[in-house]
Amino acid sequence: KNDVGILALEIYFPPTCVQQNVMLTKALFFHSFLLSLFSIITLVPQEALEVHDGASKGKYTIGHGQDCMAFCSESEDVISMSLTVVASLLEKYNIDPKQIGRLEVGSETVIDKSKSIKTFLMQIFEEHGNTDIEGVDSTNACYGGTAALFNVVNWVESSSWDGRYGLVVCTDSAVYAEGPARPTGGAAAIAMLIGPDAPIVFESKIRASHMSHVYDFYKPDLASEYPVVDGKLSQTCYLTALDSCYKLLCAKFEKLNGKPFSISDADYIVFHSPYNKLVQKSFARLCFMDFLRNASSIDESAKEKLAPFSALTGDESYASRDLEKVSQQVAKPLYDLKVQPTTLLPKQVGNMYTASLYAALVSLIHNKTTTLEGKRVLMFSYGSGLTSTMFSFRLREGQHPFSLSNIVSVMDVSGKLDSRQEVTPEKFIATLQLMEHRYGGKDFVTSKDRSHLSLGTYYLKEVDSKYRRFYVKK
Ligand code: ACO
Repeated sequence: KNDVGILALEIYFPPTCVQQNVMLTKALFFHSFLLSLFSIITLVPQEALEVHDGASKGKYTIGHGQDCMAFCSESEDVISMSLTVVASLLEKYNIDPKQIGRLEVGSETVIDKSKSIKTFLMQIFEEHGNTDIEGVDSTNACYGGTAALFNVVNWVESSSWDGRYGLVVCTDSAVYAEGPARPTGGAAAIAMLIGPDAPIVFESKIRASHMSHVYDFYKPDLASEYPVVDGKLSQTCYLTALDSCYKLLCAKFEKLNGKPFSISDADYIVFHSPYNKLVQKSFARLCFMDFLRNASSIDESAKEKLAPFSALTGDESYASRDLEKVSQQVAKPLYDLKVQPTTLLPKQVGNMYTASLYAALVSLIHNKTTTLEGKRVLMFSYGSGLTSTMFSFRLREGQHPFSLSNIVSVMDVSGKLDSRQEVTPEKFIATLQLMEHRYGGKDFVTSKDRSHLSLGTYYLKEVDSKYRRFYVKK
């Protein structure tokens, strides 16, 4: 089988979001007030959130680098979002549901400790008489989607492949308890169709992982949807994992190809994106790593600026604010070329956990559609706890319907972003409070007002007295 990879993509994120700060306070609140009268909203602007939380102006928008945060209204959850995105992918690429032979889901949003999200998705396939579909869910923080993707790609490449397509779904709703992590939430689902002769091809020899036991972000309280998070530790763990994967990947590449690897060998670099500032720091870190390896990607003036930091130990280098500042400044021109085109959706939607990395890939394809032929995209997947892998795709236009240009028109990222509606932080918090109350609950029906959802969206209608969940397509 040649060129196994991603044939087609679809993304769904809730039509509701919060902005991160409010300079336009009055206008925005009046606007939001009007909207809330009609209660048709679920997107929080980060600007509004800054004002509401009493954070200094720019803390979420510049400090975290985020614009907006999507969240699920009471009618949506990770199951409804994955039903929506799978149904939409099958319909828009005209795929017969019988043609799916394996379906894997990555998610860290636990709704049931036994019954997988994959089994809910079977509703779509059973209707068409297809129950012969392998695969279940993979869970480890934001890494589950990557684990699911690797499983499905390995299946297509294996002797047990039966010639049908594989499907990978990443679905998460990232919500945090009140505090500094709350503005780094988000929500989305992504579906990826996997098979041979793909426009987004796996370079399976370029891959390196770093896995380790840490408590940086975890969900030990089964009565709560919120994680326990050590924010500072999670940042350091992320950067340590990045360093380790990159070093190993460079070494493997050199052994295989007889020449060194540096960021010059990657046209674009796509990072798991909890919030944009960490992505800026991560790219700066790769530049610093290249500097330490004396790679040709770092020019003379950058070398001069980074020289004072060359003797720092690993731990000292993570702690050095000066190094962070200088390396981000040195990295800026390359960041604008290689990373900035990947940041649209993560900045607009927030952390989508398992879907974040792939939403960044979607952003790249959306922004650079016609100029991607032959380009190499380096991917960095991170899941707290921790699991991480750096891997690589090679892009090509491909054949309709599995072409980059068709993928872009099907996904309609601009249309989806433009049709969102902003809510006030108050409305966002009221929704979180309702969800806290309902988490793990039974015997309730959701609001009858689903006017914010577009046609074709699945929603949660009710949870009955036996905790059974019922989803309906609008
Ligand atoms: N204007 C501009 N920048 C500002 C302002 C302002 N008014 N106020 C603060 N900042 C900057 C800070 O200087 C800092 O930037 P720096 O990191 O470049 O120094 C940044 O804003 C963040 O501020 P902090 O006070 O350092 O941190 P905060 O209290 O906002 O918490 C954190 C940030 C730790 C990321 C928190 O939101 C969190 O715990 N999030 C969840 C964990 C997470 O996402 N971890 C990432 C990997 S794991 C995963 O994917 C879940």
